[in-house]
Order: sequence, then structure tokens, then C-alpha cells
Amino acid sequence: MKRDFISIDNFTPEELDQTVKLAAQLKKVRKTPLELRPLVGRSMAMIFEKPSLRTRVTFELAMVELGGHALEFQSVGIQINERESVPDVARNLERWVDVVIARVFKNKTVRMLAENMRIPVINALCNIEHPCQAVADILTVAELSKGRFPKVKLAYVGDGNNVCHSLLLICAALGLEMAVASPEGYEPLPGFVKRASELGKAGDGSITIMRDPVEAVKGADFIYTDVWASMGHEDESEKRSKNFQPYQVNADLVRHASPNFHVLHCLPAHRGEEITDEIIDGPHSKVFDQAENRLHAQKAIILKLLAPEIAERQIKSNNK
Ligand code: CP
Ligand code: NVA
Repeated sequence: MKRDFISIDNFTPEELDQTVKLAAQLKKVRKTPLELRPLVGRSMAMIFEKPSLRTRVTFELAMVELGGHALEFQSVGIQINERESVPDVARNLERWVDVVIARVFKNKTVRMLAENMRIPVINALCNIEHPCQAVADILTVAELSKGRFPKVKLAYVGDGNNVCHSLLLICAALGLEMAVASPEGYEPLPGFVKRASELGKAGDGSITIMRDPVEAVKGADFIYTDVWASMGHEDESEKRSKNFQPYQVNADLVRHASPNFHVLHCLPAHRGEEITDEIIDGPHSKVFDQAENRLHAQKAIILKLLAPEIAERQIKSNNK
């Protein structure tokens, strides 16, 4: 049966762990001539209703480096739901390509694509989740925390948004400690908090939602932030920038973290808003390692969905 990756919750904790490990292995062999060109002749359609740098480049490169091909569509080209309904777009695309990634305004759109296609659909960001980002984030955390992983604390400071939701689910599933501090009215959605708590209880993960950014950052190994106004919320920028001021990741805030803390940001950053230049350009910042890891994570996700037997063999061969 075909699998989709619309939410972190589409993969079991064990599958998430394997996907992160596979990404780490694929990173090691990136520049070597691999037998790993398993996707020769396979193609990916990439639908973007919103702008992108990292997701767009890394998905296309991931496909090419695995031997396949990617085609990009801007929403203006397809006019999904205007020129043609979502189910009809889906029923066309599945006749030509092997996998679809979609960056959309509404979660419902990516779910409808998946429901109407017999091929895998990957959520390349929607209003409530950014699951591929979270896989790359955990790869980065695992690399930087070496032997201690997953016994680390990650503090997320700012908007309880799509990035925060996917991180909550993956941290809880993989046994990390995650603290989220958001201003009133901008907390993560209760459904994600509830599900993350369940996942945490089933394993060793723990999540705490709070108001105070200093409390969240206390003793943290990782400090993560994201823009205050996500794509689609630009008209609220002024109001948000007032509400979020105490949540800026700056020199004052980071002094409460563990001495060897690292700073993460999914990017793009709005410098001078959620993060200062001093911090994003400083020695603790790992944001470009994180951006690089998008590529390795995308490959692992694509292989897991399109060639699961190869993904499994690769993991086993490296465990020997
Ligand atoms: N982090 C991220 O998804 O970047 P893009 O919006 O540039 O794809
Ligand atoms: N939360 C941000 C993430 C961008 C990668 C947004 O949705 O715009």
C-alpha cells in the first residue's frame, strides 16, 4: 500500500528513527559513486503555492542524486482549486509521476491530493506542519549531541506554528525533552500538544508548554526559533512584532542555556526580529548545517516512500 508523509505522525517512532539514521548514512556517501541510484526513470512533481529556497532546491537535488527527475509547478501554473479541482489535479498527476510534494496554504489540500492519488504525497509545508524540516532538524540535533542523543533539551521560542508542531511530534516520538515558550494566543494547537504528550508518554520524550522564554531556555542544549509571521500571516506582522518582542533570541536570552548550546532556525530568518545578527552569525549558530541537512533528510524520506526495501537494506548494511 502506498504511504504518504503529510504529518510526522504518519511514521511510527521506529520509522522516524530509521529515517533520521538513513539520512545520516546518505550524507556520508553523497560524493561517492553509489549503487544507490535506485530511482532511475522515476519522477517527482513539486507543487508550490508559496515561495521556497531550501525545500525546492533540496527536493529536486535529492531526486536527481538518487537517479530520478523532478518537475516544479508554481501555483500560478496549475491554479489548483481554481482552474481544476484538487482531486482532478491528483488524478492527472498520478498518471505521469511517481511521487508528489506539495507546499500549500491549507493542510486540507495536501490531504486531498493524497486521498486522490495512488502514489506517495509529501507535505513540503502547510499551515499546520512542516514534517520534512523536522526530520532534518533531528538529524542536526543528533549530529551535534553525539553520544548524548536523544537525552537533550530543545527549547523552541516563539510562534506555535507549523514548524513547532512537527518538532513537538518528532521530539516526543524520539525521546527528547522539548520546552515551548510562546506568547498568549500563539501557542501550538492543542491537538498537537495532546498527541505529542501521548507519544512522549509511550517512550521517553517529554514536552512542556509555557509562557516564559527564560524558563524554556534554562539549561537547554538547543534553542530553536522561527519567524513571528509565517507565510500567509504577513498582514499580522506589525501586531505580532509587538507581541513577540520578549521572545527574541538574543544575547540576553541565550545566557540561560547550557554552556555548549546550539542555535537552530529553519530559515528564512527575519534578522532583528525573532533572532539577532549576533546570535545567528555567532559561534553557537548551526543554521546552515541544518539547511544542508534538508538534502539528506529529503533523500531518506523519498527512499522510505518510493523504495522502502532499498531504504531497509541500506540501514541494515550500515548496522553490520
Ligand atoms: N526551511 C524551509 O522550508 O525553507 P524554504 O521555505 O526556503 O523552503
Ligand atoms: N513557519 C514558516 C516556516 C518557513 C520555512 C512559514 O510557514 O512561513
